[in-house]
Amino acid sequence: MNYRHAFHAGNFADVLKHAVLALCLTHLTRKDKALRYIDTHAGIGRYDLTSDEARRSPEWQGGVARVMDAARPEAVEAALAPWLSAVRAANPDDTLTAYPGSPDVAASILRPHDRMHLCELHEADCRTLDQRYIRDARVKAECRDGYKALSALLPPRERRGLVMIDPPLEQRDEMVAMARAARVALERWPTGTYIFWRPLKDLWASERFDSGLAQWLLFEQDFEPEKVLRADLWVRDLESEGKLAGAGVVGVNPPHTLEADLLALLPWLSETLAQGEGAGWRLDGAVTDETLELDEDAG
Ligand SMILES: C[S@@+](CC[C@H](N)C(=O)[O-])C[C@H]1O[C@@H](n2cnc3c(N)ncnc32)[C@H](O)[C@@H]1O
Repeated sequence: MNYRHAFHAGNFADVLKHAVLALCLTHLTRKDKALRYIDTHAGIGRYDLTSDEARRSPEWQGGVARVMDAARPEAVEAALAPWLSAVRAANPDDTLTAYPGSPDVAASILRPHDRMHLCELHEADCRTLDQRYIRDARVKAECRDGYKALSALLPPRERRGLVMIDPPLEQRDEMVAMARAARVALERWPTGTYIFWRPLKDLWASERFDSGLAQWLLFEQDFEPEKVLRADLWVRDLESEGKLAGAGVVGVNPPHTLEADLLALLPWLSETLAQGEGAGWRLDGAVTDETLELDEDAG
């Protein structure tokens, strides 16, 4: 495992991913009943933006730093509020030196009676993660394959909560592993909220993941179309060479408020975080009208 998130923490892809995570968790905390947050690929929890990795690859300057510096319209501020408060909590003296990863975002939102289960396979990162939350009674961190852990962890005792699946996806077959894990998880716990992150790098593979999952949910598991929401952001032309140009999430059982928040957020993010020609965004159900018509014809 060569992937180190410290080189990418706080980039444009993290901003969208973590803003969505924060909105979903905040919505779940509107009910008093306890919830469980499960993070299959947790990383180290919080990233030091003054570290050697962040200095050598300052992707955060084109992500979180730009968002913090920009003037934010009211609707954008509202949609970003839960994530912004996690960023501010990690930077109490107002200088951006730390970036909250998904476990830290969750830790800032969960209440004392909620629970958090973190899996991380990289040995050193896993130790760092465990140390970070050692005094937080809500958290259990495990050095464990997050995909394999899912069948043991689902459904959680609380029967309410969110599963974040955020793999490195540096290899093509990882998308297949995520698709398999998605089906296992959703069969075991169909009512949980899920966030699947994937890069827009190999567009064929990501489209196959998205529409495969959405079609399976809609046509084989009888999910309503509004239970699948895909949000993507690209900061330059997706065909352009070089570093990652686009990424996004597929949400399953998202809160009903998420679509409106993302409609306010995505156009602003694509303008604010653009790195060249061809930046853009999309928000849809991961199944196009054409696919639905084809399926009706086939049925
Ligand atoms: C994209 S990073 C996660 C970032 C984190 N979710 C966040 O938002 O702050 C992916 C992480 O997955 C870890 N990893 C890779 N394969 C794994 C597996 N099968 N199970 C658990 N962790 C894995 C990597 O070591 C890396 O830390």
